[in-house]
Amino acid sequence: MAKHSARATAARIITLVLKQQQSLNAVLRKNISLLPENERALCQQLCYGVIRWQLPLQAIADQLIAKPLKNKDADIAALLLCGLYQLRSMRLPEHAALSETVNSCKTLGKPWAKGLINASLRNYQRNKQQFEAAIAKTDKAHYAHPKWILNQLQKDWPEDWQSIVEANNQQAPMMLRVNRQQYSRDEYLKWLQEQGFKAKAINGCVDGIELDKPCDVNALPGFFTGAASVQDGAAQHTVELLGIKQNQRILDACAAPGGKTCHILEVEPTNDVVAIDIDAERLLRIKENTQRLDLSAELIAADAGDIDAWWDKKLFDRILIDAPCSGTGVIRRHPDIKVLRRPEDLQSLVNKQQQLLENLWPLLNTGGLIVYTTCSVFKQENELQVMNFLQKHPEAEEIKRSPPPASPRPVGYQRLPGEGNMDGFYYVCIRKI
Ligand SMILES: C[S@@+](CC[C@H](N)C(=O)[O-])C[C@H]1O[C@@H](n2cnc3c(N)ncnc32)[C@H](O)[C@@H]1O
Repeated sequence: MAKHSARATAARIITLVLKQQQSLNAVLRKNISLLPENERALCQQLCYGVIRWQLPLQAIADQLIAKPLKNKDADIAALLLCGLYQLRSMRLPEHAALSETVNSCKTLGKPWAKGLINASLRNYQRNKQQFEAAIAKTDKAHYAHPKWILNQLQKDWPEDWQSIVEANNQQAPMMLRVNRQQYSRDEYLKWLQEQGFKAKAINGCVDGIELDKPCDVNALPGFFTGAASVQDGAAQHTVELLGIKQNQRILDACAAPGGKTCHILEVEPTNDVVAIDIDAERLLRIKENTQRLDLSAELIAADAGDIDAWWDKKLFDRILIDAPCSGTGVIRRHPDIKVLRRPEDLQSLVNKQQQLLENLWPLLNTGGLIVYTTCSVFKQENELQVMNFLQKHPEAEEIKRSPPPASPRPVGYQRLPGEGNMDGFYYVCIRKI
């Protein structure tokens, strides 16, 4: 019996996320190559689907299994979630989904669990309506979001929280940024269409294209020679707000994996760009990306706020702070945020953001711009954070630059997840007077 199969590998990956609090993206990247190529898409679909719907799936599993499984059998518990996800949400023949899931117990080295998984999934099949009605009674299972995130969304967005939740539970579309040093957006769009891709230009996004269906990047024309990169339209708008010109010195303070660093350089490749990230391993991803796109930036692994550790005393004309944040605008892309983030993280993120703004402000030339962005929808990380900063700094003024289709806030602009089919993002542009 093979040691790897889409379902067994998905169960192992889900266990690492749920029990060891590892990032879904990182564990998928490490484990998926162990699978034969034709099993990878299913494994990825199962991992994302189960993590996205973990709260309702777990609520059903709790009703199916009277006594919780031991920690050492967390992979079997995850396999049950995979089975339920297939029956609830995937268009697979039910008998095949069921028997393949049951057989995966053997792949996981636990043939004793076959009876348990088989009986539980058949019980769900027989009494589906009853189980679904029972879980619909709790908000966290019904909306598939932890209570603390729901509470915060309801407080910040009393009119919009339900549409935010709905957008967060969708699968994110795949969007591309065309490297304008090689092709115009329209030229690349034509190339894609000639190759059989269904795609369209993203409204208000100079370099952006949205694909009809996600695909492997290896299939994209010219990907390896730097014709395009994968990046949501909301992230692409950030660089447009910087208003980049020639001969500027630009700091990208929280840069990894380098999506915006590369975009900054694609706009003006001769500019002097310093890209910092606190995470040395993630910084390597910037190196890979700049190499693929044939761009060059100075890369520094450091805490950007600890300026004595890295700053050479030369001022910057532009500073981008794409701040570490709760990620509540990109839950559709990173559903593990719902599992990994804790309510107590929020205050510590707000403190870090404040520190970055305060410590990097003196590094900006007079007349220069800071663009502060987050992929969060929480006001503490966004407009309240920046209002506090502006109150303390009379030499700072907001420049009104609106990325379409984001809505103006008392300070800056907020795009809620799903608006324009893009990620949720907050943007503000601040000038030093
Ligand atoms: C939202 S991500 C940046 C995404 C990136 N700008 C892009 O477009 O690809 C935030 C990054 O901030 C980094 N980070 C967190 N605290 C930091 C700090 N004090 N100094 C520098 N980087 C930091 C994290 O490691 C993470 O890579």
